[in-house]
Amino acid sequence: MLIIFGASGDLTARKLIPGLFNLYVAQQLPENFVVLGASRSDMTDEEFRDKVVNKSPYLKEKLEDLKDNYVKGFTDRIFYEDLGSDYTAEYSGLAKRIETLNVDSGTESNYMFYFSTPPSLYEPIAKNLADAGLNSQEKGWKRLIVEKPFGYSLESAKILNNGLQQYFKEPQIYRIDHYLGKETVQNLLVTRFSNSIFEPLWNRNYIHHVEITNAESVGVEKRGGYYDKSGALRDMFQNHLMQIVSLVVMEPPIGDQPEEIRNEKVKALKSLRIMQDEKTLFDHTIRAQYVASEINGEKVKGYREEDGVDPNSITETYAAVKFFVDNWRWHGVPFYVRTAKRMPTKVTEVIIHFKTPHHQIFKDSGVSSKDNKLIIRIQPDEGVLIKFGVKVPGQGFKVERANLDFYYSSLAQTYVMEAYERLLLDAMQGDATLYARADEVEAAWEFVDPILDYWKNGKDVRMYGYAAGVWGPENSDELIDDLGYWRNPGENLADDPGYCVIC
Ligand code: BG6
Repeated sequence: MLIIFGASGDLTARKLIPGLFNLYVAQQLPENFVVLGASRSDMTDEEFRDKVVNKSPYLKEKLEDLKDNYVKGFTDRIFYEDLGSDYTAEYSGLAKRIETLNVDSGTESNYMFYFSTPPSLYEPIAKNLADAGLNSQEKGWKRLIVEKPFGYSLESAKILNNGLQQYFKEPQIYRIDHYLGKETVQNLLVTRFSNSIFEPLWNRNYIHHVEITNAESVGVEKRGGYYDKSGALRDMFQNHLMQIVSLVVMEPPIGDQPEEIRNEKVKALKSLRIMQDEKTLFDHTIRAQYVASEINGEKVKGYREEDGVDPNSITETYAAVKFFVDNWRWHGVPFYVRTAKRMPTKVTEVIIHFKTPHHQIFKDSGVSSKDNKLIIRIQPDEGVLIKFGVKVPGQGFKVERANLDFYYSSLAQTYVMEAYERLLLDAMQGDATLYARADEVEAAWEFVDPILDYWKNGKDVRMYGYAAGVWGPENSDELIDDLGYWRNPGENLADDPGYCVIC
């Protein structure tokens, strides 16, 4: 049984129920599976079913082609419990409802509690569940899934972890990071550890630098109130991007067991060099905010004009960070990671820039400016691209760069699960590989905290502006040192075809 706290909120209708519905259609849900939504809204089971399924804009298209009876087979598994005015009032009513559903549907006391509420309620809800005996695994398992933001700083993350761990044991706690549910993020592990052609090169001897871009074309949409207290570093960098970094940086795990993989990820995060002094923080970080502009002839608001945003806000919508990893493998290799809203396109990719060959045989080839790159495209146009040198036909040895690519879309028969689908299914099966462990979250905060602190209190810290719809502030390339500039990717993985001759 999945019990969702905060079930009347947007996440349930937008992500959780559609994810479960897809699992239902794919016949992946356990036979006796039921959902119990719980929140402070006064709704009947029927009203809740209408809200999240029958009349849901997020399922509209999917339902159109399906028979009512078939859809009813799904909605009949969905129930709702009104928690009254307060999440912190005791849960005897909820416990009774859970027990009735448990007996009626045969869920064998296996419960998964999903916290889709503000984090300030996590501990009180966990306490109430424990008081009602709903943390006991004597009969059936009990698991918690908690949504981000997981803490606001290292200190608050620790308090949150300790708070939850008073009532549930760490293996019962699943901290969701939906980027880990993305196929292409998981494919980072497979690319590295199931091929013999990349891993031998995956180190300081062959890699010049690593670049990670996460760009969104949207602004803060309707979430100005939340975002203004968070900012790009907390919203995307501390969690999703640090997870990607850990998969790029980590050492090979002994096997694919969750704890083996998570141990290596923690080690990776702990090896990031924490920036302490103001000069390094000044030189290695850039923050910025989008300002009003016109995109495709349409006026677009600046961040400070967005609903819910303080007109004098100094919250960043663009964050770029350069850092080093202090371990044997990565010594001296710079990492450049950026995330932002209101960029020209929505794209996430990891680019491994390899060093140019140690000894240049083809002196006039221009090869030094044409390094080999491995581009792992997380989204969209998911795939992998290698840029490598080829000889230009004709006399001499002129070298150009060509593309070698793989696209997930070419696997036409394969159904690619959405992040939430995969993660919910994993949690049901007790597989925590793709969930963040307490020490992982804390290690990521440890790296991010000094940057946040500097951005808040630093002497020379600046907030740059960039017109909505461009690739960040004008000086963003300065971070890349003498290496040139960020790769500003397009919507397609291989926007430039590499060396080609049209006629
Ligand atoms: C969320 C952030 O975690 O991730 C949002 O809070 C962001 O601000 C979203 O838009 C991006 O997710 P995706 O899967 O669309 O890249």
